[in-house]
Amino acid sequence: MSEMKVFDVAVIGAGPGGYVAAIRSAQLGLKVCVIDEWKKDGKAAPGGTCTNVGCIPSKALLASSGLFEKIKEEAAVHGITVGEPAIDVAKMMARKDKVIRQTNDGILYLFKKNKIEFFNARGSFVSQCDDGYVLAVGEPINERIVARNVIIAAGSVPRQLPGVPFDEKLILSNEGALSLTEVPKNLGIIGAGVIGLEMGSVWNRLGSEVRILEAVPSLLSMADSAVSKEALKIFTKEGLKMQFGVRIEKVETEDNRVSVTYKDSEGKLQEMWVEKLIVSIGRVPNTATLDGPAVGLKLDDRGFIEVDDECRTNLPGVWAIGDVVRGPMLAHKAEEEGVAVAERIIGRKAHVDLGLIPSVIYTEPEIAWIGKTEQQLKAEGKEYKTGQVPFAANGRARASDETEGFVKILADAKTDELLGVHIVGVCAGELIAQAAQAMAFRAAAEDLALICQAHPSFSETVKEAALAVNKGAINI
Ligand code: FAD
Ligand code: NAI
Repeated sequence: MSEMKVFDVAVIGAGPGGYVAAIRSAQLGLKVCVIDEWKKDGKAAPGGTCTNVGCIPSKALLASSGLFEKIKEEAAVHGITVGEPAIDVAKMMARKDKVIRQTNDGILYLFKKNKIEFFNARGSFVSQCDDGYVLAVGEPINERIVARNVIIAAGSVPRQLPGVPFDEKLILSNEGALSLTEVPKNLGIIGAGVIGLEMGSVWNRLGSEVRILEAVPSLLSMADSAVSKEALKIFTKEGLKMQFGVRIEKVETEDNRVSVTYKDSEGKLQEMWVEKLIVSIGRVPNTATLDGPAVGLKLDDRGFIEVDDECRTNLPGVWAIGDVVRGPMLAHKAEEEGVAVAERIIGRKAHVDLGLIPSVIYTEPEIAWIGKTEQQLKAEGKEYKTGQVPFAANGRARASDETEGFVKILADAKTDELLGVHIVGVCAGELIAQAAQAMAFRAAAEDLALICQAHPSFSETVKEAALAVNKGAINI
């Protein structure tokens, strides 16, 4: 034991939850290490799913394919003549890889700056000890350390269809979907969730014929139904072919193609042949390599690490955050939990409101929401008021030819407190910040309506929707 290094905090996982928790812990004066095993081309690649195969690369490809589509479809409207644009997939991927590497290196720099010791290796539990926990570093083990507190931020991995493993050549998870070397002539996607829509948009824009098969009867059942209806209309117009209420029966590969046999919503057996198949049917917590049983770490019945409202596990001094615990699987939720846990370790109070985590889908147009949907309010029997304003009523949107979609605001019928804000349309992912700020301060619709917004700006649509809640909209 005397040769082992002792840390106040050991963080397992350097995704957005883990690396942020480590930095905040170090800022608070604690001796911190991070253990993360991700490597790319033999080099340490901290940043987790988000940086390496999630948020950052998907947004890089959405930016490239979005620009391609704008040039192809929208330039002419502005009087710009261009030839038929072509896409160099290798160059697009190289740009994406550069963005990832910059982000990996940025995190390594931050570890150094904050005097955090970084182990680019696997971390697992060995035993409890007087000082806290003994952790093994490396696979095979090449070092043991002691940590007074452990923050588990081990993230999640893609869920596979039963009996259909990912080969990342024909049957792709997010990892393969973000690394295709050419545009497939046709692309099948199972699951019309966030990854299905974002990846479907990327490859559809670049010319692939995209077909999405979804188990539930409607699109984005977790979103406000007005938003999902509008989104379905827009995506269909963009060329995404979607079928709902399907049941996947069989997936088989043959040479260079994949066949998917499924029952459609009427129970009829159908077959789909595609060059590539993305399976994006959700993600599962990643606890396989932690050796939690060595110390009696408790999981819930869905395999997530069981935690209380403050991210405490069943073991004293062991915390868990991000995708490996309950709540939305989003990078910013993991980050908030990471900061809160660091504060709690030194005895401060901290709070993360899981009901106020914004969701953004980075399609064209974007979709974003925060708080309750109208369906949820109805189910709760809550009395509410609604204000909905289309982007077509906004001068900046018309000047930019970005008039699709709307802002919808739900507020308490009696107190006027904001209960939910739902946006489908231009810059929705940025506009939702107004709602996040207002709702964090428990603002009323009237408060949002009284704030002066620049003209012409997309932000005025949020103000206008807030005005509409109390029948005061000016421009509709
Ligand atoms: P992760 O980012 O998964 O990091 C966990 C890390 O722990 C990994 O590096 C892993 O290797 C490491 N690890 C696990 N076990 C061990 C071990 N035993 N030893 C050492 N290391 C270990 N969210 C958003 O908010 N916005 C988006 O735009 C967005 N886009 C996404 C796009 C895609 C395609 C995907 C797949 C996800 C996206 N997400 C997005 C979700 C987001 O990536 C996750 O919510 C986020 O990464 C979770 O962070 P985390 O820190 O909990 O775990
Ligand atoms: P998801 O939960 O968003 O969507 C999965 C979809 O697959 C659902 O619509 C579900 O009904 C469907 N499905 C499940 N089983 C099926 C089956 N057998 N056959 C057909 N359809 C089936 O999960 P997804 O898209 O895999 O993304 C995983 C996580 O990553 C999400 O929880 C999300 O939070 C996160 N993410 C976030 C992004 C963002 O914030 N912009 C972008 C991408 C991912």
